[in-house]
Amino acid sequence: MKGVILAGGLGTRLYPLTHATNKHLLPIYDRPMVFYPIQTLVQADIREVLIVTGGPHVGHFLGVLKNGKELGLQHLEYAYQEKPNGGIADALALAEDFADGDPLTVILGDNTTDADISEAVRRFEGGAVVFLKQVRDPQRFGVPVFDPTDPKRIIAIEEKPTEPKSNYAVTGLYVYDSSLFQYIRACDPNYAGRGELEITEVNNAYLRDGKLRWEELHGFWSDSGTFQSLHESSRYWAEKARAQTVRERERVPVEATKQ
Ligand code: TTP
Repeated sequence: MKGVILAGGLGTRLYPLTHATNKHLLPIYDRPMVFYPIQTLVQADIREVLIVTGGPHVGHFLGVLKNGKELGLQHLEYAYQEKPNGGIADALALAEDFADGDPLTVILGDNTTDADISEAVRRFEGGAVVFLKQVRDPQRFGVPVFDPTDPKRIIAIEEKPTEPKSNYAVTGLYVYDSSLFQYIRACDPNYAGRGELEITEVNNAYLRDGKLRWEELHGFWSDSGTFQSLHESSRYWAEKARAQTVRERERVPVEATKQ
């Protein structure tokens, strides 16, 4: 399994911060945002990674990530999205040569989670897997519609619905087999009226062909594309690091008494 991190887009909702650098290099607590999705991939033993990026600050990535070795990667590749806001599926199209027929685990570069996706990655046998999470504001996301007669079965995914039919968000973590690229080629830029190639259209195409499965993400998950979500993510990771330091400090005397 190979990994792809999508770190294009313009991050306009974070202006003026994103006038200074790419959104995915902004800090979430004590590290650049993009370190978190890399960590999630490494935890799932995915060490061959492609970062797709674009926009005015692309050069900043090299200085921060270098060859990815310090972050536990064996191979790090970069691809340049020419239309920086072409959409998530447009960015993903650039991964075709990198994938070379293999399945891909994909994470949006502004998503951070402490969920462990290793098991889902190991069990992947084809088609597509989307990871869902219950949220307070599903209107901001792709939202699954469940079959009323079989509540575990998704019958559609609606993009940013004004009246969501569930309180789940389709998060920015996905696993795809190599048919992904045919589905992207069939995408309609007017699907959601934004001129972007939408990942929700790709996911609905897998669903239509009976090849979409879902898993629930256990643990914290958030995007960080708005000031509020950026702040909340930072607060979560800072608190988690503080709690870990306290636990480590408490452990020291126990170990010291053993000697
Ligand atoms: P968005 O947050 O939907 O878009 P954006 O990053 O351009 O931000 P804004 O709406 O504030 O202008 O995208 C979510 C993630 O998807 C983003 O973190 C990176 C990735 N992405 C791309 O790689 N290419 C793209 O063309 C878009 C739109 C997003």
